[in-house]
Amino acid sequence: MPKNRSRGYRVDEDELREVLEEVFSRRTLMALYDLLNKGVIKRVYGVVAAGKEARIYWGKGKNEEDVAIKIFLVETAEFRRSMMRYIIGDPRFKHVRRDRWHIIKLWCSKEYKNLMRAYEAGIPVPRPISFKENILVMEFIGKQGTPAPLIKDSPPEDPDRTMKEIINYIDVLFNRAKLVHADLSEYNIMNHDGRLYIIDWGSSVHISHPEAINFLRRDLMNIIRFFTELGAERVDIEKCIRRIISKQSLPPL
Ligand SMILES: Nc1ncnc2c1ncn2[C@@H]1O[C@H](COP(=O)(O)OP(=O)(O)OP(=O)(O)O)[C@@H](O)[C@H]1O
Ligand SMILES: [Mg+2]
Repeated sequence: MPKNRSRGYRVDEDELREVLEEVFSRRTLMALYDLLNKGVIKRVYGVVAAGKEARIYWGKGKNEEDVAIKIFLVETAEFRRSMMRYIIGDPRFKHVRRDRWHIIKLWCSKEYKNLMRAYEAGIPVPRPISFKENILVMEFIGKQGTPAPLIKDSPPEDPDRTMKEIINYIDVLFNRAKLVHADLSEYNIMNHDGRLYIIDWGSSVHISHPEAINFLRRDLMNIIRFFTELGAERVDIEKCIRRIISKQSLPPL
């Protein structure tokens, strides 16, 4: 079979097809081939992490840089139900079809857009690269295909300073990017040789979402709980919320 040639590099499609076809649906494969043909990704290596909603693959990008390829699973029905809470009420997603494939695609594009907004606001996140259907491509955080550890397994050296740093990110996210992460905890922050990266942005909502303040409170509670257990100074959550939201300019009366 002829090898696929596009924009001056080759992808060993036969080999790739063999491995991937067992694992993915036809639609997922089509999306993956599209990213390969466009040159967004050059190679896909093994799976490096498997979460509730997605699998993360290590691969190589356009310039041989390491990329993380997050492929959302279409089969997880439970996941689809819980997603609606974060989609309905966000003005960016007014017209939503409710079939499974569309919700997953929407979720993936939502994660990409959230990631981009956070990145542009200066929050430390993996640099977003591209997305197609249920596949998100971003900067790989780690070394040689091994993801950097999460802070739950590799706690930062100075809990007090780090907690304040993260609370500041939550503030910047709210006031500059107009987002609430909504799934923030020690499970979604990576520690790459002392540099933090906040991941997993699918749940994030616009600050006008009716539950935005509840999600903000939950994010802050998770962070403050985790770091005070490590010895950080106690922080008054309600004061913290008031300080963050008071920076929003109020609509004219
Ligand atoms: N950009 C990245 N670079 C390297 N590894 C990553 C990257 N993004 C995610 N990972 C790894 O994949 C794991 C799962 O990622 P993520 O939290 O985004 O997916 P998830 O399906 O929501 O997972 P979970 O259900 O466990 O929250 C992370 O804990 C991390 O180990
Ligand atoms: Mg996660």
